[in-house]
Parts: sequence; structure tokens; C-alpha cells
Amino acid sequence: MTTWITICDTCKREGWESGDMAQTDGEAFAALIEAAADDLDAVRTRRVSCLMGCKHGCNVAIQGAGKLNYTLGNFTPDPDAAQGVVAYARMHAASETGQVPFREWPVAIKGHFVTRHPPLPVDE
Ligand code: FES
Repeated sequence: MTTWITICDTCKREGWESGDMAQTDGEAFAALIEAAADDLDAVRTRRVSCLMGCKHGCNVAIQGAGKLNYTLGNFTPDPDAAQGVVAYARMHAASETGQVPFREWPVAIKGHFVTRHPPLPVDE
């Protein structure tokens, strides 16, 4: 089942204004994640403008139907972080429940979890 990485493309980290401001930190992070997930069947990406975690950008959500879903934040937009997010999304996709054992988490995502959302009940 597909795991989606939803990336906020409007996040701006502290100090963003002191750079060239050519793109937001979220746009930079989205491009890195999209490139890292480009050839994967089980992981797809999309961009949204604001996940309401603006104070701790960059933010992403990891979601799959019927599974535990997560938001993660406080990422710097760099290749290591992007590859960690995609590696975790692959594990989420392979997990029946969406839960991935802590010992298997990529180092780059440890300490970045913000929220966990249990799957919605199935309508009867
Ligand atoms: S701008 Fe990224 S969460 Fe609001």
C-alpha cells in the first residue's frame, strides 16, 4: 500500500531571510525528498502549503490508508534529512500497521517526530 510523504513547501526556518530567499526552506526540502523518492513504487510525494507546524519547520507528514500516520518536523533541508524521511516512508509502506520498530529508524529522523495519528475507524 502506498505511503505518502506530504511536504510543506512554505516552511521557512529561522534565519531564512538572511539567505538569497530564492526558494523557501520547504521548497528546497521538497525537491530533495522528491528526488530521493523518484523511482519508488510504494512511496509517493505531494506538496502542500502549511501543515500548521510553522514554528518547527521543515515539516512533513507520513501517511498511509488504515495505518498509523505521523508528522515530523524541525528538519534542515539537506540530503541526509531527505534520504532519512524517504527511507522511513519505505519502512512505513512495508509495515502492515505503519509502525516501524525504533531500532530500524534512520538516524536522520530520530528526534523529529511531532505527532502520531491512529488510523480512522472503518465504517460499518
Ligand atoms: S509554513 Fe510549513 S507548517 Fe506552516
